[in-house]
Amino acid sequence: MLHGPQRLYEDWERAHWAAQDVDLSRDRSDWEAMPAAERDLLQFVLSSLMVAEERISTQFVGLVLAQDDEEEGSYLSTQLVDENRHMQFYARFQNEVIADPASIADHVERARAQLGEPFRQLFDEALVQAHERLRDDPGNRDAKVDFVTIYHMVIEGTLGITASHFVLDFLRDRELLPGFAEGYGLIHQDEQRHIAYGTWFLAQAVREHPEMADMIRRRIHALLPAVAESVAPPSEGAWDVLGVEDGALAAYGLDALGRRLKIIGAPLQPAPS
Ligand SMILES: [Fe+2]
Ligand SMILES: [Fe+2]
Repeated sequence: MLHGPQRLYEDWERAHWAAQDVDLSRDRSDWEAMPAAERDLLQFVLSSLMVAEERISTQFVGLVLAQDDEEEGSYLSTQLVDENRHMQFYARFQNEVIADPASIADHVERARAQLGEPFRQLFDEALVQAHERLRDDPGNRDAKVDFVTIYHMVIEGTLGITASHFVLDFLRDRELLPGFAEGYGLIHQDEQRHIAYGTWFLAQAVREHPEMADMIRRRIHALLPAVAESVAPPSEGAWDVLGVEDGALAAYGLDALGRRLKIIGAPLQPAPS
């Protein structure tokens, strides 16, 4: 059974953690001792996470406005706080471990320069436009379903889940950056709750209005090329450091997305005409 907003709100109360309390004291020496190829890869991942969490936290308030009742509003308010905590954690890591202190806006600006066009398409275009549409008209059902499809299914449920799975495996296997692994692990647990909300909401929307399934599918098909490019290696053989094949990330992400879309009642096949 899918958990609804009240249960997810209660889970949040019990799962509270503080970005400032994560112990980063060993990470600094790990970072400095790391071979260049590993450091470059993690720097790229960190840039992606920094930009993603900034977008994710600033492009969310429209969904809080679109709440259908107080229980959903309670849950959505917790997600807004979570996303800000994640952004704070990545900024703290850059300040203290990479020893490159800056304001959050400056961190985001620098990180953005390392990222490619598909990332910009997803975060600066699709997400921002869907958020503006919802914020301007919070009662619009299509706008809410479209926003949750991009945010919870594509960004969190496909890209986010893929990055955390492979990066956490890599860090834990090698016992590297224990503070970062702890914080990223806690962020991953928060994200599971967020994806659970998105799955619950879209399943309910499709049950009430079966024609929504096509809208969800169309949006996902349109974004899949950008998603695939976003998890492709940033340079040839870059994923060798992770010890996985180049296509492993895309396969993992698509599988997770496909399973959730089935639960929602909008399976990816057949492709919409
Ligand atoms: Fe997040
Ligand atoms: Fe999230």
